[in-house]
Amino acid sequence: MSAVIDVQELLARAAARVEPALIEAVPKLEGPLGRLHESMRYSLLAGGKRLRPAICFAACEAAGGTPEDALPAAVALELIHTYSLVHDDLPCMDDDDLRRGRPTCHIAFDEATAVLAGDALLTLAFEVAAEGGAEAVVALARGAGAAGMVGGQVLDLAAENAGAALGLDGLERIHDGKTGALIIASLEVGRVAGGAGGAEVANLLAEYGALIGRAFQVADDCLDVTGTAAELGKTPGADQAHGKSTYPALLGLQRSLEVARELSERAGEVAHRIARLGGGLDGAESLLQDLALSVVSRKS
Ligand code: IPE
Ligand code: IPE
Ligand code: MG
Ligand code: MG
Ligand code: MG
Repeated sequence: MSAVIDVQELLARAAARVEPALIEAVPKLEGPLGRLHESMRYSLLAGGKRLRPAICFAACEAAGGTPEDALPAAVALELIHTYSLVHDDLPCMDDDDLRRGRPTCHIAFDEATAVLAGDALLTLAFEVAAEGGAEAVVALARGAGAAGMVGGQVLDLAAENAGAALGLDGLERIHDGKTGALIIASLEVGRVAGGAGGAEVANLLAEYGALIGRAFQVADDCLDVTGTAAELGKTPGADQAHGKSTYPALLGLQRSLEVARELSERAGEVAHRIARLGGGLDGAESLLQDLALSVVSRKS
């Protein structure tokens, strides 16, 4: 991360790098599988902040690698993330009809196609990630699977209408699983691609990722209360309508916004400790701090 760049630039650069690779990863097809690819492209190429690729590129460059080194992992992350959104929106899960500013995959196509588009995006992710080696594949699998995102989604569904009985611990476990785990994996696969070894760097990046991941999901919960469909590209108020266990539901909006801010500040402190490790990581401090701020100050 030689030049000082801000988060907007980080996101714009990541999108510009990852977009052509996503288009190439899921080409248009003629014939019987044409519609499957169309549904995958429909959800994948609908915008999206490309935050996880951006985090991956940032970690890779901080670790001394080039963006090219991190490209397979970045593509794989966005494929996994998009699959998770397609399935998250299904009637049997959050039953949402708007995503990334368009009708959700199961509305635009049909439910079976949306399930299978998600399956195909997830499977393709591991084919692409394999180019980056086994360590990246394992980190992605852990972040995405039962111990990570899928596990968090299971807890999220089980906690519908749980009310205060869930407690803050229960809510943290949901958010850390469904959202934090893939964000931690984004940093880890970036670090691996960049070639920065050492348990100390890995542990501090994971600590930072856990804080921004949780902060990101608290902000998502708050935006569901305060945002508009035009800003979010999804239907606001859906959490309350579905009895979801969220930070605003448990703590109220004001306290939730404070919690998000506190988590972001704690992540900023970890960024400082990461920079103190030296070895090229010193240049990463301000970007990692900006990133921590941006996940809570965002409008979409
Ligand atoms: C939405 O993720 C799902 C959550 C984990 C809250 P994003 O807010 O990153 O969605 P896109 O990729 O920008 O559409
Ligand atoms: C979903 O959390 C996290 C995923 C793993 C997709 P939400 O259900 O709150 O995400 P949105 O609000 O639908 O994007
Ligand atoms: Mg959900
Ligand atoms: Mg949802
Ligand atoms: Mg949400």
